[in-house]
Amino acid sequence: MLEHARPVTRAWVLHPDLKNASGRRKAEPALAEAVALAAALPDLEVIGSDIVRLSQVQPGMLFGKGKIDELKAVLKSAEVELVLIDGPVTPVQQRNLEKAWGVKLLDRTGLILEIFSDRARTSEGVLQVEMAALSYQRTRLVRAWTHLERQRGGLGFVGGPGETQIEADRRAIDEQLNRLRKQLAKVVKTRELHRASRAKVPFPIVALVGYTNAGKSTLFNRLTGAEVLAKDMLFATLDPTMRKIVLPTGDEVIMSDTVGFISALPTELVAAFRATLEEVLDADLILHVRDISHPQTEEQAADVHAILQSLGVAEEAPIIEVWNKIDLLEGDAREAALTQAERTDDLFAMSAVTGEGMATLLAAIPEKLKDPRTSETLTLGFAEGRKRAWLFEAGIVTDDQQIDNGYQMTVFWTELQKERFGRL
Ligand code: GTP
Repeated sequence: MLEHARPVTRAWVLHPDLKNASGRRKAEPALAEAVALAAALPDLEVIGSDIVRLSQVQPGMLFGKGKIDELKAVLKSAEVELVLIDGPVTPVQQRNLEKAWGVKLLDRTGLILEIFSDRARTSEGVLQVEMAALSYQRTRLVRAWTHLERQRGGLGFVGGPGETQIEADRRAIDEQLNRLRKQLAKVVKTRELHRASRAKVPFPIVALVGYTNAGKSTLFNRLTGAEVLAKDMLFATLDPTMRKIVLPTGDEVIMSDTVGFISALPTELVAAFRATLEEVLDADLILHVRDISHPQTEEQAADVHAILQSLGVAEEAPIIEVWNKIDLLEGDAREAALTQAERTDDLFAMSAVTGEGMATLLAAIPEKLKDPRTSETLTLGFAEGRKRAWLFEAGIVTDDQQIDNGYQMTVFWTELQKERFGRL
């Protein structure tokens, strides 16, 4: 109804594509992802977007004068109120650009923080996001302050908030951060108690992980009939959700849905994000859900692997790859995916929307849970390259070191894998 409609902010997304930047991402998909991120905020309307190619960053304004004027005209005629910049923007650049364009401006960290705070559901999630937001604000104050200091020293110019005001702001932020840390410690303690009692639950835990928008919530809903928010939105899930389900075999498991992964997560946000993934460490089995129809599906999978590895999850539980959205593939691409899934252990192609391939996946889960795994350290000679490759391909290597006479590798495998390896 009209009287309840929330005012919508007209937003424009810019992806700065900096030549020679370390970790430079492909501009078009990066822009598409930034637009999708912006669309995850309910009260924003993205009315346009651009890639801005840059050979170097202008310290004060980020972009060059010509580009700023050109964009000014575009933003004005489109009546844009908020510009989202898909990258880091210093406080000085932010102020200058806001003034030049007559808009509000948010950088990538600011945008993701907004989304996190919009989505956080558990008390720990909320606290973690608040802390990340405060730390972010604090670094911005520090940087703004350094900048003013330099101006004062060089030109005897005093402008903006004085040093004492900024120091007072910083102190206030520090106090609030301390309060939040204490609260968080309490929440974590309560949660540990919950975890301990859950550990006694005789059901194995199956965790869904995957890149944002891969279809985890859709799969979770289909499996559990639960009303978890599933929209065409990134980060529909920030905090893990758990439900008990009965598999067609009669086995009972706890399904756990987790927050979506994202590439180039600003470092300030890594801790908040990891806190939401702690549940994965409890899992007996991990389903890595992939949007196999996404052009960047390989890069997304690599990001997810890197994070799982850094969490130490690979050593804790076996992983099944779920190639979701198979209904969106056609012709040869579809055939190739289906054939590969058929031929490969621990790989399933399916669609959470049509239900195709679900039964095969569900039948495999209890089997997988019955496979106990053990950790073992092997020494392979330099000439045993084929065996070494086999271990990597099986995705069971947890440590790999070069030694004098070859490689010392730690693997985490099932009896079946061990036996197959023995036959190589
Ligand atoms: P985050 O909460 O961001 O981590 O996302 P998610 O992985 O939970 O994704 P979600 O389930 O919200 O699905 C994202 C979008 O993909 C929704 O629009 C779904 O309808 C759609 N989707 C999910 N699975 C499939 C599928 O198998 N086929 C098709 N065509 N669309 C799907």
